[in-house]
Amino acid sequence: MEPTGYPELDHLLGRLAAVATLADEALESERIALLGRKQGVLTALLKRVPELDPAERKSYGAAVNRLKQAFEAAFEARSGQEPKESQLAAVGLDLTMPGRRRWVGAEHPVTKAVADICEIFKSLGFAIAVGPEVEDEWLNFFALNFPENHPALDSHDTLFLSGPTEAAQGVGGAPGGRLLLRTHTSPVQIRTMLAGPPPYRVVIPGMVYRNDPFDPSHAPAFAQIEGLAVDEGIGLVDLKATLTHFVHRFFSPATKVRFRPSYFPFTEPSGELDVECQLCHGSGCPACKQTGWMEILGCGMVHPNVLVNAGVDAERYSGWAFGMGPGRVAMNRYGLPDIRYLYSGDMRLLRQLGGADR
Ligand code: DAH
Repeated sequence: MEPTGYPELDHLLGRLAAVATLADEALESERIALLGRKQGVLTALLKRVPELDPAERKSYGAAVNRLKQAFEAAFEARSGQEPKESQLAAVGLDLTMPGRRRWVGAEHPVTKAVADICEIFKSLGFAIAVGPEVEDEWLNFFALNFPENHPALDSHDTLFLSGPTEAAQGVGGAPGGRLLLRTHTSPVQIRTMLAGPPPYRVVIPGMVYRNDPFDPSHAPAFAQIEGLAVDEGIGLVDLKATLTHFVHRFFSPATKVRFRPSYFPFTEPSGELDVECQLCHGSGCPACKQTGWMEILGCGMVHPNVLVNAGVDAERYSGWAFGMGPGRVAMNRYGLPDIRYLYSGDMRLLRQLGGADR
């Protein structure tokens, strides 16, 4: 717009040009500041027109009107549109300046492993269950058939939160005992069974805690995934077939698995499952300590005492369970030699493995 010759109007021409560069809230507040019915600058100028000398009134009134229309057109042109680059250049904004980099997040390798593992079991008809990280002695140990003098209860392994005299609240009418940070996800087996009648098919991800030093193969807090399947007529063949199927889905259909006998108080018989080392494919390397195998989980047929403690008829129902270390699985997947890479919060790991960019 050409200058009007009235300085008080012409000094608004800069603001007229700038309308093209504003966005969102700044644009709207400028519109109100200029054209608003109450505080608008142009509205106020127009109101003064009738008070002017008749000689001045005509040409001044026309100039204010032209300016007002120019502003209206400028705001109209901007409605719903971003400023154009040429308009920005006109007021000295350079869009080719490098912007600030944003942080891009990434899933932690253990989170990713947990999600992938849960997804496979979900497709097999398992539900996801969770439980609290603070449990009592009964749920964490005794309901799971640990004897009273089991070394895992030792305060060297278990992080107790309350002393022996302080009785915690029991679940399902059973005595609670001391409160502790759960040492495994297995107490959620008991919680699941106490919550309703069989059958059960659940996987239970969560963090667990042990009074262990932070060294290449131990962490004081780490992730586990528990699995439980209880129904009529479930046998060892279901355990072996389901877990082998899982390994073939998670790793590859060609990955070798082996079951070794083991011992857990809450399963009988008990076993451990090894998968072929994903780094050397069985030939032996430092990550698998030259054995060619990586242990990923403990498993077994649920001990009848556990079913009874959780109120399930052990004559009628049977089941199998497993406890997996998704950290181990992630270490194997990515060839990590030290568990501390996973649990020490080092951003360099996420940058490399997760694709996080800073
Ligand atoms: N709770 C065991 C641990 O933390 C792992 C485990 C082994 C869980 C065998 C199970 C199982 O459910 O059947 O070492």
